[in-house]
Amino acid sequence: MALDAAFGALDQHAEQLKNTTLRDLFAADPERFEKFSARTDDLLLDYSKSKIDVKAMDLLVQLAKAADVEGRRAAMFAGEKINVTEQRAVLHTALRNRSDDPVVVDGSDVMPDIRDVLAATADFAEAVRSGDLRSSSGAPFTDVVNIGIGGSDLGPVMTTLALAPYHDGPELHYVSNVDGAHVADTLEKLDPETTLIIVASKTFTTIETMTNARTARKWIAGTLGEDAVGDHFAAVSTALDKVAEFGIDESRVFGFWDWVGGRYSVWSAIGLPLMIAIGPDAFADFLEGAHALDNHFKEAPLGQNLPVLMALIGVWNRDVLGLSSRAVLPYDQRLARLPAYLQQLDMESNGKRVKLDGSPVGRETGPLVWGEAGTNGQHAFYQLLHQGTTVIPCEFLIAANGHEDDLKHHHDLLIANCLAQSEALMLGRTLKEATSMLEASGMADEDVRRLAPHKVFPGDRPSLTLVHDKLTPFALGRLIALYEHRVFVEGVVWGINSFDQWGVELGKELATALLPMVKGEAPASGKDASTQGLLAALKG
Ligand code: F6P
Repeated sequence: MALDAAFGALDQHAEQLKNTTLRDLFAADPERFEKFSARTDDLLLDYSKSKIDVKAMDLLVQLAKAADVEGRRAAMFAGEKINVTEQRAVLHTALRNRSDDPVVVDGSDVMPDIRDVLAATADFAEAVRSGDLRSSSGAPFTDVVNIGIGGSDLGPVMTTLALAPYHDGPELHYVSNVDGAHVADTLEKLDPETTLIIVASKTFTTIETMTNARTARKWIAGTLGEDAVGDHFAAVSTALDKVAEFGIDESRVFGFWDWVGGRYSVWSAIGLPLMIAIGPDAFADFLEGAHALDNHFKEAPLGQNLPVLMALIGVWNRDVLGLSSRAVLPYDQRLARLPAYLQQLDMESNGKRVKLDGSPVGRETGPLVWGEAGTNGQHAFYQLLHQGTTVIPCEFLIAANGHEDDLKHHHDLLIANCLAQSEALMLGRTLKEATSMLEASGMADEDVRRLAPHKVFPGDRPSLTLVHDKLTPFALGRLIALYEHRVFVEGVVWGINSFDQWGVELGKELATALLPMVKGEAPASGKDASTQGLLAALKG
């Protein structure tokens, strides 16, 4: 079936399903959960609370076939240059390839280089952790500051928090924002004598990172002397020449390659801060988890393939049902930064409007991704999720076990809350149910009539739930890889390039042009009236 026909069949089927609610679907089929859930090891995806039936899933799998998801997947793993606008292969999967299989780009196997850099980062991380690597004054490093932004920050930040129970190395700090408050507040708490700074930037030109790196350099040089700088800096980059210009010795520079996208780079040397925090062995488990999911993605049939299923439900919600956003709701405080991480992964990848050949997509593409850890979000925006006028598909994540063995009652409450939310979104509460509930409380009839509409929940609101055993390094690696492949499959179905990010360029160019005007070194006369007005308000 051609892609347009596959979409057409889905549109038609959605029309037929329009008046069937999730309540109806559950009532009609006691085996709905078994039919619409899938697993790999202890990772379970429950998609039974999506507004789909058997036919919708069949049609969605046909859509994946029509889009040649299998062929594109094979092309990605094989190192073909599927990032066509930058003429690059897309091989973050090679970074966590734990098999002996070669991965060939431009005729040569990239695995030996990957293993060399991994070994060098592991040696460096171990030396920092053990205290073998010392500061300029001979002290062990107690604190590590990673300076980077976007993919050179969000992955390490998110995973460092997620794996806090595994930390046994120096304390980690992250500086990303060009707002001087970020670097100032971070460095203020630290002793330069025992602080190591990692400058992480794929390009080593990103203005935020280079500005923060120069400020940190001044902080070290200003307190410990210019000669101390070399002992207190390391870098992660693909631009080794630019790192050398900055003055970081090549023995402390860890490279990666142009076929690793920034938002897919946590598996590379960009993961160095995480490795310093949890150690190379736990970092290897993290890679193993992602590799296990890669194998699942490559091998499981489309209809049982977790990232494919998540993508197809994503496309169904976005394109067929027209739902424009997606809330990520981890019931895990240590995954509090996952929504921010997924915002870059998903929105920078699939926030596109033209196909590979440059023609308009003609359908909706990537949704707005946002979220917050549960249960905190329940006391903020869930009101809108349940009773607002906009339907927002929700994605719940929950572990069967926490790390706090002596606080099991907390975890039971967490699970109960997580399950309650997806149940409430799905079931809702009818006017009749609300009325009976109020009547049963002994309320006067007039008050019941007045209040009942406010107690109605429309329900029929879709959600996915991901369950796993425990947030270990392995489980976290698997989870990130799951989302990466989901984004990839959605991009393939939409026919877009998920691996470039031209949309961030224009703002960067304009900021560069505006800087002399902000500094008063150039006239703002050529700018539009609003920009001129704002400049005047800010700079007088
Ligand atoms: O936001 C644009 C972007 O290019 C991201 O894709 C990237 O992760 C980030 O900037 C940082 O880039 P770099 O690692 O080159 O400093």
